[in-house]
Amino acid sequence: MGNETITLLSSREIDKMRQAGKLAAQLLEHLGTMVQPGISTHELDQEAEKWTQAHGAKSAPLGYHGFPRSICTSVNEVICHGIPNKKQILRDGDIINIDVTPTLDGYHGDTSKTFLVGNPSPEAKKLVEVTEECMYRGINVVRPGGRIGDIGAAIQEYAEGHGYSVVRNFVGHGIGRIFHAPPQVPHYGKKGTGKKLRPGMVFTIEPMINIGTWESELLDDGWTALTKDRKLSAQFEHTITVTRDGVEILTVDK
Ligand code: MF3
Ligand code: CO
Ligand code: CO
Repeated sequence: MGNETITLLSSREIDKMRQAGKLAAQLLEHLGTMVQPGISTHELDQEAEKWTQAHGAKSAPLGYHGFPRSICTSVNEVICHGIPNKKQILRDGDIINIDVTPTLDGYHGDTSKTFLVGNPSPEAKKLVEVTEECMYRGINVVRPGGRIGDIGAAIQEYAEGHGYSVVRNFVGHGIGRIFHAPPQVPHYGKKGTGKKLRPGMVFTIEPMINIGTWESELLDDGWTALTKDRKLSAQFEHTITVTRDGVEILTVDK
């Protein structure tokens, strides 16, 4: 996919990414403790902005290609890029993906999780569990000498094995001082195909998995992507780097 150059980060830069990634993980964890029936997605967004500023960081989504808020909040059939809204109140049984991307000293930490609101249906819980496992299966095949296609193949096999579909038109991405950089990282594909993985590459793995069709629609707001059949979608995301002997997850609080 693409012939653009993939930037390899130095160990000094990877350390900056570790610090940004740690902050992103802490922010996501903090917002997760607030998720409960009755809270609005606007309140989550406000807290994210306040927390981010208090930690000396900035919210990359705010103003990014005109995105109006500091985080993305994608509820139920929303695949990604949901916009926090005062009128959107979480209800018992919802699932919500919160996607945060603070920048610290110019470096981005991009991570998301799908949280359960109260007690969702067994069907919804299963989707969320399988989607998280999809992300880890994608991460666990990353190694120098491997290929980008190995990641999508591992994710697609596991998702489709559960009867789910993999979203095609949103992909993982290179990241560093730039939010969205080469390479593109599809969450479907063929093992042994695509760009070769090299130490110092940094990118996200962020599978979006649907119960029904993988096809999406975009709302009139220009951002909110939802499933064409309005069935549920879940997503998990980590920022990772290829190391000399495998992979390191950067968006962890360690
Ligand atoms: N964090 C999202 C991603 O994983 C991107 C959000 S861009 C925004 O790539 F503009 F919608 F915020
Ligand atoms: Co991302
Ligand atoms: Co993200």
